[in-house]
Amino acid sequence: MCESSGLSRRDFVRATATAGVVGAAAPYFVPAAALGREGSTVASERIQLGLIGCGGMGRGNLGNCAAHGDVVVTALCDVQKSRLEDTLSKFSQSAKPYRDYRELLAQKNVDAVIIATPPHWHALQAIEACRAGKDIYLQKPMTLHLGESLAVRNAVKRHNVISQIGTQIHAGDNYRRIVELIRAGNLGKISVVRTFNVMNQGPGGVGHDPNTTPPEGMDWDLWVGPAPLRPYNAILAADSYNHGSWMDFSGGWTPGMAPHIIDLPIWALELGYPTHVSCSGGRYVVEDDGDAYDTQEILWQYPKLTMTWMSTLASSYGFDLGSGTPARRLGIYFHGLNGTMYCDYGTYKIVPEGDRMKGMQPPEKSIPSSPGHEREWLDSIKSRQQPSCSVFYHTKVNVPIVLGNLSYKLGRSIRFDPASEQIVGDADAAKAAVPEYRHPWKFPAEYLT
Ligand SMILES: NC(=O)c1ccc[n+]([C@@H]2O[C@H](COP(=O)([O-])OP(=O)(O)OC[C@H]3O[C@@H](n4cnc5c(N)ncnc54)[C@H](O)[C@@H]3O)[C@@H](O)[C@H]2O)c1
Repeated sequence: MCESSGLSRRDFVRATATAGVVGAAAPYFVPAAALGREGSTVASERIQLGLIGCGGMGRGNLGNCAAHGDVVVTALCDVQKSRLEDTLSKFSQSAKPYRDYRELLAQKNVDAVIIATPPHWHALQAIEACRAGKDIYLQKPMTLHLGESLAVRNAVKRHNVISQIGTQIHAGDNYRRIVELIRAGNLGKISVVRTFNVMNQGPGGVGHDPNTTPPEGMDWDLWVGPAPLRPYNAILAADSYNHGSWMDFSGGWTPGMAPHIIDLPIWALELGYPTHVSCSGGRYVVEDDGDAYDTQEILWQYPKLTMTWMSTLASSYGFDLGSGTPARRLGIYFHGLNGTMYCDYGTYKIVPEGDRMKGMQPPEKSIPSSPGHEREWLDSIKSRQQPSCSVFYHTKVNVPIVLGNLSYKLGRSIRFDPASEQIVGDADAAKAAVPEYRHPWKFPAEYLT
């Protein structure tokens, strides 16, 4: 038995491997110029950080950055006074509060921003941040529309800023081991990949709230921003779990979860863009205040490979290799000629096809551990080399997702030309791929070229 990756051969083919998801916190690269005499970072060399969107995720990302001595938090922004004040109470020594993100972006003492607002804001705020010369840590989903995706990528390039999309699972060791295994070819040629996120929300979904009055200190018009105006709804405003029920503010659960999940096959198989995308689904079982689908299936055609995505809010049994207990299930199946691999964030399991994998060795570890997703970004800000989930990589993850939702909305398949990054033979779909923002917000179409 080969023990090269810490697994016996039998373990390798039969057992589930488990690995930590979050990388070690210690930085692997801090330029000498950024260090003071005692090894601490001199104040003038610290990365001056801002946060736009002080919800749970933004505060989490901010905390992970602020834990490093070479970061100082200088600016915080939220349209909800209570969340802003809450976050400010932890950084009151160094940070100033802002209600309007444009004021934050105008500050000279902000080098870089975390953008953790609801998804309908991501593209515009990211592009504005690039225009202001700020490096960005942009939460997933990167964007909700093809036009937005290309414009954000182009803005990062044009303004030469550092970008990291917030798919932190990418930094975990389990994904690294799977990429090595897939690339070693032990599964043989892979022709089918199935991906999914399934969780039963029951008929009630995220629920109902008859209250349509924003609470004191909530700027609802600025929360809605470029999306179509709708009355305040406390459930929608609560957090990203709830955003998933509203199409205009999240695109449903597919943009919510697929960025973490289809990331792995796109990375392992070095996929470019799909050439055909089709989607079906609808709101079949859930009856809450939202309007997004509760069931959605996408089929992506890549050269010599098909990949599917299933998002459902019904019972999840049978989607993984697992038990009958009610649970949220997510993961990826890679189907090769020699066997099938099932995997998720922290585990993988290979089921060989008969004896076709007999005697095969697991590959040596070759992809180094990440120092942590946010730490990678901070190091990149100093080195000026893009990190692992820059927009230049992540556009390949985001585009299939936004094309899937476009196909869902239009009710027809989409053909996409990877070379020109254009929708082919469907002028209406190409037009619908570029959003129209609510007045006075304007989609920055100048970044499409
Ligand atoms: N990477 C992950 O695993 C992960 C997990 C959860 C959430 N997320 C993503 O992080 C983002 C935030 O999620 P969340 O759960 O913290 O959501 P949330 O709704 O709790 O927080 C978003 C915050 O943004 C604020 N906001 C809205 N419009 C704003 C504007 N124009 N300017 C400034 N602030 C504004 C809201 O008031 C709110 O406080 C979402 O995109 C979500 O998909 C990622």
